[in-house]
Amino acid sequence: MIVVISSEKGGTGKTTISTNLAIIRAQKGMDVFLIDADSQRSATDFSAVREQEGHQPSLCCAGISGPGTYEEIRKMSQKFDDTVVDVGGRDTITLRKALLAADMVVVPFIPSQLDIWGLDRMDEIVGEAKTMNENLRAISVMNKVDSNPKIILKDEALTIAKGLKNIDFSELTIGYRVSYRRCIADGIAVTELQKSKKDEKSIVEMLSLYEEVFKDA
Ligand SMILES: Nc1ncnc2c1ncn2[C@@H]1O[C@H](COP(=O)(O)OP(=O)(O)OP(=O)(O)O)[C@@H](O)[C@H]1O
Ligand SMILES: [Mg+2]
Repeated sequence: MIVVISSEKGGTGKTTISTNLAIIRAQKGMDVFLIDADSQRSATDFSAVREQEGHQPSLCCAGISGPGTYEEIRKMSQKFDDTVVDVGGRDTITLRKALLAADMVVVPFIPSQLDIWGLDRMDEIVGEAKTMNENLRAISVMNKVDSNPKIILKDEALTIAKGLKNIDFSELTIGYRVSYRRCIADGIAVTELQKSKKDEKSIVEMLSLYEEVFKDA
């Protein structure tokens, strides 16, 4: 299965979700390829830390970009059970081509005004991809959800996410938690944290997202 993690906005959690899903899938015994299709190369840096620290299962990671993205993803993914692609937060040829190669796209968004506006644009981009890639499945996931209801636009964001035409609404949300920041720094997924009470919620919610994404694979 080829899963693309993408949003037109920066900082929504694409790399966090890509790396977590890739590792959890590898923990299930699958041969997983993590493609870094973002020029910032954050997933590549993450993979380098993971390798340096000797964490198992190891992740195969490579960077790609540009007009050849579709062909490269298709070709490179053949050698693996599953491929997870972390795409940069802008409307680029790389994003457009990655969506043509994908079985599924996960669109993370933050309940903030600027992110909510970005969702409509991403919905259009996914809609255009679906005209050429009919079987593309798309879901949105609200990330960095603060537990303080006063300082977030959760209800407004939910209404907009539910109204999108091409991206299915998922009930899944990911909380704003320090566990995710620790994992990125250490080259691990939340499921690899030393299980303490405060990490439990992040493990449960990331496993729920994993189950939704790979349910048909
Ligand atoms: N649920 C979360 N709780 C707390 N921090 C988070 C969460 N998700 C992501 N972060 C942090 O937010 C920052 C941005 O996340 P990340 O790099 O995954 O986003 P991105 O969409 O890949 O960003 P970019 O557009 O720059 O590639 C990182 O510092 C990350 O550790
Ligand atoms: Mg990123």
